[in-house]
Amino acid sequence: IPTKIFKDSEGASKIAAQEIAQIIKQKEKEGRPAVLGLATGSTPKKVYQELIRLHKEEGLSFKNVITFNLDEYHPMEPDAIQSYVRFMKEQLFDHIDIPSQNIHIPNGQLPLEEIPAFCKAYDEKIERLGGLDFQILGIGRNGHIGFNEPGSLINSKTRLMTLDMSTKLDASVDFGGLEKVPKRAITLGIEKIMNAKRVLLLAFGEHKAQSIVQAVEGPVTADIPASYLQQHQNAVFMIDEAAAANLT
Ligand code: F6R
Repeated sequence: IPTKIFKDSEGASKIAAQEIAQIIKQKEKEGRPAVLGLATGSTPKKVYQELIRLHKEEGLSFKNVITFNLDEYHPMEPDAIQSYVRFMKEQLFDHIDIPSQNIHIPNGQLPLEEIPAFCKAYDEKIERLGGLDFQILGIGRNGHIGFNEPGSLINSKTRLMTLDMSTKLDASVDFGGLEKVPKRAITLGIEKIMNAKRVLLLAFGEHKAQSIVQAVEGPVTADIPASYLQQHQNAVFMIDEAAAANLT
């Protein structure tokens, strides 16, 4: 996987935001919407800040953008502090001109029996739009992408996933205790990520060094779902020096 190492997250985030802006403008020219796969968590925050700046200061419009978020905890109320709906509003959507009907985020409020049909419709919507033009990703300590935990298959669909202990431990800070972290989440499957025309995975900090070296230099394995990206034709990792520390 081509890997670009940056001094810090600011530099990487600016480049990532510029690339997204380019895709939006290119699609605009083609008269087609830009279909973007978005992530939450600490990793993409500065990318979203830069996109907001490009919107406010340089006139970048999101009128023509359709977004699909990777994941949402289940169960989760959309206005809860830890909700990814709330995160996306606060970090991006409330500050740009994206039409609300263009935003898609897995629904954390569905009764269990309605989740399979919801997930199927989520994948079909992406499919009908011709797939994702772009997917931004973070990476978990355990090598997860989205909430595709170790064991996820390369052709996995959008589905309800039981969260790994390492994922719940990382989330426990936000939830105020491990026992308060939801046991499951709805996640976009690996398949739609692999079919995205372009994938940018960002990773910052020494706590990502281990999963980065496994994803980039290790075998392609379900044990490290990010390693599947070795088989993607157009995926790039943009990481800082701390996350690159274990690369040879
Ligand atoms: C978030 C997501 C996760 C995170 C990953 C890293 O939508 O899908 O895979 O990208 O857990 O989280 P942070 O960025 O908080 O270190």
